This record gives sequence, structure tokens and C-alpha cells, in this order.
Amino acid sequence: MIVTTAQLFKAAYGKYAIGAYNINNLEQAIGLFNGNIESQAPFIIQISKGARKYAGVRMLEGLIRACEESFPEAVFAVHLDHGDEKTCYDCIDSGFYSSVMIDASHEPFEKNIEITRRVVERAHAKGLVVEAELGMLGGVEEHVKVDEANARLTNPDQAKEFVERTGCDSLACAIGTSHGAFKFSGSQGLHFDVLEEIQKRLPGFPLVMHGSSSVPEEEVARINAAGGNIKGAKGVNEKEFARAALLGVTKVNIDTDGRLVWTRVHREFFRDHPEKFDLREPGEIFKKEYAAFIKHKNEMLGSAGKLAEVRAMIGK
Ligand code: G3H
Ligand code: 13P
Ligand code: ZN
Repeated sequence: MIVTTAQLFKAAYGKYAIGAYNINNLEQAIGLFNGNIESQAPFIIQISKGARKYAGVRMLEGLIRACEESFPEAVFAVHLDHGDEKTCYDCIDSGFYSSVMIDASHEPFEKNIEITRRVVERAHAKGLVVEAELGMLGGVEEHVKVDEANARLTNPDQAKEFVERTGCDSLACAIGTSHGAFKFSGSQGLHFDVLEEIQKRLPGFPLVMHGSSSVPEEEVARINAAGGNIKGAKGVNEKEFARAALLGVTKVNIDTDGRLVWTRVHREFFRDHPEKFDLREPGEIFKKEYAAFIKHKNEMLGSAGKLAEVRAMIGK
């Protein structure tokens, strides 16, 4: 059953976080549904502009509709990840998505507000909810002075003003993470101090943590042992998800870790079976491994086992 992210956030706020997983293809979709059903977790499917281009807009919709039918127990939201204004309108008008992210975080503050406000009006008129972003997500380098480093993070006072003036339903905050497999340098980590200040100013308001892959050392080592060449990869400590959830982080975005699972499975398969060429064989392994990965993430996020509670809350 497709619900809005707002419904999921209401159930989770301050207690646990909902996993928001990016998908691009059939194997990921099946693994994702299986993993979430096995761990009895509500979840968010994220579709990026890149995924829409890669798989085809209608193709991903069809795939998700088919999964909805095959997994009637599942409770999930369908969310546009990092949308621009045009893509947000396309998704709002499609009647398929339950929420969109407008990412105008690269724009100056006032312009970000102006664009986000327009998207919120269009989305709310059709019952969709909107995630917006304030602050510049990206690696905070150790050689950057503290002031400069902080300047890239979300300013808590601005966050309050931004939410009030845009009417957005959740806010992606820059608290030190970055996208991809190469996060942080040296001892840099999550800025819980900033998160605390944002929560103080926006109590009860759902916050979103992008760039939350943990890039497990063991996974990278297996990829490299099977012919890969990924050096200096580093991610978020997944043990910190629980603390972030208490501070209002209700949605945690994970994409890169799933790509690492795909890479490890396929590299190891073809290393160990150089004579094989049936794509379904590594595909079967990937579906299972991806489901196991989702289950593990849901445990770390605290969303595992919460499906019945969420269903009761939304009256289904
Ligand atoms: O934040 C970006 C997501 O990981 C999506 O990546 O644009 O390559 O699909 P993508
Ligand atoms: P990762 O690259 O850490 O998986 O982050 C994904 C993300 O933020 C998608 O919006
Ligand atoms: Zn992101």
C-alpha cells in the first residue's frame, strides 16, 4: 500500500527512522520488497532523476505497481529524490508519487525559498508532501577551518525560517554527510550539535539525513579482492542512526551501500564462474543479498518490526 512519507513520519518521529532506498531496476525492487517484508518494516522507495532516465519513468512505475500487487502487506511511500522544479511537477501530476523532494539547496537562501514554496503549493493541492533541502551537502574536509566547515552545514536559525516560509513537510539538513562512497576525512563525523540545535527550533518536525551509506570496510575489501579498485572509501557509522532518530531524523537515505552489494555479488560471481553468462544466476544471488542488506539496515534504523504498528495507525 502506497502512503505518504508524512504518514510514516508521524509514526516514527523521535523513536526510529524510516529507510529511504533508491532503486533503478527489477532485482533491486524485488530485493527491497522482500527485505522489508521479512523485517516487517515500513519503507520509502526513492527514485532519482538518473533512475527515471535509466529505467524509463513508466517502467519504474509499472515495476512498483507490480510489486505493490505481489506484496500486499507492504506499506511504503514513493518519493522523488533530488528533484528539480520541472521534475517535481511531472511527478506531482503523474498521480503516482506520494512525495517529492525539491532540491534547490545550491541556490541562495531567498531563491531556495521561492522555488520550494512554488513546489509546495502545487504538491499540497494534490495531497502530496514535500521534502526540501537547506545547507550544502558534501564532504567536510579536515583541512577546512571550523568556520568554513560550519558554513556548509545547515544553519539552525535559517532552518526554522525556511520551514515556516516554505511550508515544506520535511527538511534535508547538511550535518556533515556527503553522497557516495568517500565521506568524511580523518576524524570528521556527524554534527550532532547542529542537529540538536535544529530540533530545538523545529520540535516535532521531520528531518532527513542524506548521504547515509555506511560503506562497510568488509564490503569494499571483498569488491577489491574480486578485481575492484575502490580506495579510501568511508561512510557513516550506522550505530549513530539511533541517536540521530532521537534528534528528529525520521528519514535516512541509502543508495551507495546497495550499489556496493550489487558490485560485490557480480564481481565475486564472475570471478568464481568465469565460464558463466546467464544474468539470472548472479541476479538471484543479488536479490537475496540485497534483501538481507535491507533487513540489516532496518534493524539499525529501528524500523524493523514496526509494520503492524504503522498499519494500525493508518487504519489498514
Ligand atoms: O543522492 C543521489 C542518489 O544516490 C541518486 O544517485 O542520481 O546517480 O541516481 P543517482
Ligand atoms: P548515499 O550516497 O550515502 O547512499 O546517499 C544517498 C542519498 O542521499 C540519496 O538521496
Ligand atoms: Zn541525497
